[in-house]
Amino acid sequence: MISKRIQNMTPSATMVQSAKIAELKQQGIEIIGFNVGEPDYNTPMNIIKKGEEAYHLGLTRYTPSAGMIELRQAICEKFEKEYQLKYSPKEVVVSSGAKQSLTNALMAIIDPGDEVIIPTPCWVSYVEMVKLADGVPVLVALDEEAGFDMDVEKVREAVTSKTKAMIINSPNNPTGAVYSEEQLRKLGELAVEKDFIVISDEMYEKLVYDGKKNVCFAALSPEIKEKTITVNGVSKAYAMTGWRIGYALGPIEIIKAMSDYQGNTTSNANTPAQYASIEAISNSEDSVEAMRLEFDKRRQFMFDRLNQMEGITCSRPTGAFYMMPNVKSFYGKSYNGFQVNNSLDMANYLVEEAKIAVVTGAAFEAPDNIRISYSNSMENIQEGLNRMEEALKKLQ
Ligand SMILES: Cc1ncc(COP(=O)(O)O)c(C=O)c1O
Repeated sequence: MISKRIQNMTPSATMVQSAKIAELKQQGIEIIGFNVGEPDYNTPMNIIKKGEEAYHLGLTRYTPSAGMIELRQAICEKFEKEYQLKYSPKEVVVSSGAKQSLTNALMAIIDPGDEVIIPTPCWVSYVEMVKLADGVPVLVALDEEAGFDMDVEKVREAVTSKTKAMIINSPNNPTGAVYSEEQLRKLGELAVEKDFIVISDEMYEKLVYDGKKNVCFAALSPEIKEKTITVNGVSKAYAMTGWRIGYALGPIEIIKAMSDYQGNTTSNANTPAQYASIEAISNSEDSVEAMRLEFDKRRQFMFDRLNQMEGITCSRPTGAFYMMPNVKSFYGKSYNGFQVNNSLDMANYLVEEAKIAVVTGAAFEAPDNIRISYSNSMENIQEGLNRMEEALKKLQ
């Protein structure tokens, strides 16, 4: 009864795990969640007020499928102000979360059999999204020793006559890596030379540390801009995951195709949330900066603490709110009848023994790592990491 398309799809691993943890919590078991993929902050009050205002203003009807003109205008202004990039509202489409923007982009450009290069470790949904669009994911493993930076020479080797696109994500979920400008520039030049589209997922652009700056891929050169679909949204920067607003900017022909596709599937994104997103994008930098500084404290604490643990190595993350310790040295060890042979076993062991939730690296094509999120209070981070260390010491 179920289509082959869906039968071939792996359900979102992070969603499945969240459901399992909610179940344990319901049984009264207290779990510290290092599996969290969203800021542990509330949406700033100025944005909430605009959301309320929208209802009272009667902004409760459809908008154009591509989104409110005022929001698209605000997005254009942001790109001009922050990256000196000029877009017109016709080159912007607003969707129900960046997840939908990514899906729209792939549906707009991929024909059956087209190859899409995805550097790994990568966010859980990319591979499945490409398959759902009848494309062929081509995975390129990035080097952990190089801090999971982009490796253009490896990408070059993966390019074939069928390469239609590539998906990049910097700052990166799950590694926390921020790709170097040098590698990104070379990648852009490769995309121009070999004529493929780069979908640049810049969801975590505001969460960058150690004095680094987000590199907006499309801003690298006018030729690279012509090859780029930038995907972004309000979920992570403004603690608005539940509002479901994402957007994409790119060449007008592609944006029109994405908007037409959206017009026949979901139509416009939630209208009051679009209105509130204007406030987020135009007027909320102080809240973002306060959140970033707090994340930075937690990041430094967690990074130092993990690297003190016997058997753990972890490359230094400079973006987002994740890190990816390597747990391979524990494979083959056991405690109390529980044997750890891979990263899923490790995630399960840590839930059982330390009552902390982490995500298996297998979900991100990183079989020797686990993903830990520091989107949690400092108290919980301290307590959770103590418990983790104790549990790891028991493995013999
Ligand atoms: C790299 C990346 N891209 C896109 C998304 C989706 O964002 P949204 O909530 O806007 O759909 C996420 C959310 O976890 C993400 O981590």
